[in-house]
Amino acid sequence: MAQRGKQHTRSRYDLIAPFYNIMEWPLERFLFSRWRKQLWNQITGPKVLEIGVGTGKNIPYYPDNIALTGIDLSPGMLKRAKQLLDKNQQDRISLKEMDAQDMDFPDNHFDAAVATFVFCSVPDPILGLKEALRVTKPGGTLHMLEHMRANPPVLASAMEKLDSPIHYLSGVHIARRTVSNVKKAGWDIETARDLTSGGIVKKIEATKPG
Ligand SMILES: C[S@@+](CC[C@H](N)C(=O)[O-])C[C@H]1O[C@@H](n2cnc3c(N)ncnc32)[C@H](O)[C@@H]1O
Repeated sequence: MAQRGKQHTRSRYDLIAPFYNIMEWPLERFLFSRWRKQLWNQITGPKVLEIGVGTGKNIPYYPDNIALTGIDLSPGMLKRAKQLLDKNQQDRISLKEMDAQDMDFPDNHFDAAVATFVFCSVPDPILGLKEALRVTKPGGTLHMLEHMRANPPVLASAMEKLDSPIHYLSGVHIARRTVSNVKKAGWDIETARDLTSGGIVKKIEATKPG
């Protein structure tokens, strides 16, 4: 089952990869770019994990003084991210194909983990968030931008009804309870701030206890 979920997500993103940046352009231009800049301004590292790098939309915002490891499940998305790296960045940025639910890193390895619009599509989000916790040092931080189930009940119920067909077509879940998933995985939530009305997009900051 888990394997099937993973293959479904990978195949959807491999299919979308050539069109992803064009499809997202209006959101990127008017909203996401501002939020990405704010998020990456807070990251000091030095060792940072980006989960679900996709086509590399965060790469222009990476601070110069961090060592970044980026992972993604989809070779099609990852290929595009790799094309964005220039020679100077290749020493301190490494991008790998890897499943967030089963990472090939030692415990307590990174100072911070970042994920933007990723845990809507990781097949088992709590498992992925537990893995992020495992590979982050005690006291290390998690920074997320995520869309999720809306706060108003009428909208939330409509999203729940549409969740399955949208997931089948795109690999994305639109009605996840991501703040609660972060807590369930063992992170201490520091902030979960609504960026849009209805709380559909949130900026979440959490810390690994200890
Ligand atoms: C909506 S895209 C977001 C990409 C990028 N973070 C951004 O902000 O544009 C979601 C990405 O998460 C990746 N992803 C989904 N499940 C994953 C998993 N289990 N492990 C690693 N990456 C995953 C997908 O392949 C895709 O590239």
